[in-house]
Amino acid sequence: MIRVAVAGAAGRMGRLIVKNVVEDEELELAQAFDLREVGRDAGEVAGVGKVGVPITHADEMEEKLNADVLVDFTVAEGAVKNIRIASERGVKLVVGTTGFTEEHWSKIREFCKRVPAVISPNFSVGVNVFWKLVEFASKFLGDYDVEIVEIHHRFKKDAPSGTALKTAEIVKGVVGDRKLVFGREGVCPRGDEIGVFAVRGGDVVGEHTTFFIGFGERMELTHRAWSRQAFASGAIKAVKWISKIDKPGIYDMDHVLGFKSP
Ligand SMILES: NC(=O)c1ccc[n+]([C@@H]2O[C@H](COP(=O)([O-])OP(=O)(O)OC[C@H]3O[C@@H](n4cnc5c(N)ncnc54)[C@H](O)[C@@H]3O)[C@@H](O)[C@H]2O)c1
Repeated sequence: MIRVAVAGAAGRMGRLIVKNVVEDEELELAQAFDLREVGRDAGEVAGVGKVGVPITHADEMEEKLNADVLVDFTVAEGAVKNIRIASERGVKLVVGTTGFTEEHWSKIREFCKRVPAVISPNFSVGVNVFWKLVEFASKFLGDYDVEIVEIHHRFKKDAPSGTALKTAEIVKGVVGDRKLVFGREGVCPRGDEIGVFAVRGGDVVGEHTTFFIGFGERMELTHRAWSRQAFASGAIKAVKWISKIDKPGIYDMDHVLGFKSP
């Protein structure tokens, strides 16, 4: 059994991770952490009935974290702290939190010299294939104008999405460095740039379109997630994969899905 701790267990993604862990016979829910719903049974909060694991306040993680893998879907600042604690306690990581700054990343890279971690702004298998298609299209349509549009629910804290930013990085990795332009207003003739646009509203789980626009034609690659289960299933795959990895470092879904060897 792989013993899993969940950080952000009262959140939208965390509750689903708890449900997936409880329902998987290879996994055991060892601990649950959050700032909310402290003391309540994590299974009840997740809607799967009592499982005997109360939600512990995240401030106590420093002394109490004890699991094989910590899954973190929280907020950027909190996740950096959780990653540090896990790395000090030799607990492997699966991190889905987005919105990290460059300063956060330099700390995360340091902490992950001690433990293996899968970190991905999008755990859906579909999005990871979408990224491969974007990379392929960029090789042949790299001289077309590239624009990225993402749509998410009205409660999403960070913009643009981590998935949109990674999509832009993939395009730049093929076509060379281009400035990212986040929305346009006033006089702004198009230069050597990639436009990135964040639309927010309602309960949209997550949609991303990459446009390759030339003269007389355009191609659009779109991925739509309408259930967070798409992310949870990928995160569970990552938990099982990382449990077998001993070499510390940062891995992503390319490794988990076998696109890249570790
Ligand atoms: N990688 C992916 O596939 C993927 C998919 C969906 C969402 N996300 C990202 O996951 C994160 C969470 O998304 P959500 O929709 O579940 O948000 P949410 O606001 O519903 O849940 C976040 C939870 O984390 C808790 N929290 C905050 N700081 C904490 C800390 N230090 N320790 C423990 N818990 C803490 C909050 O109280 C809250 O319950 C966001 O960054 C989002 O962009 C990633």
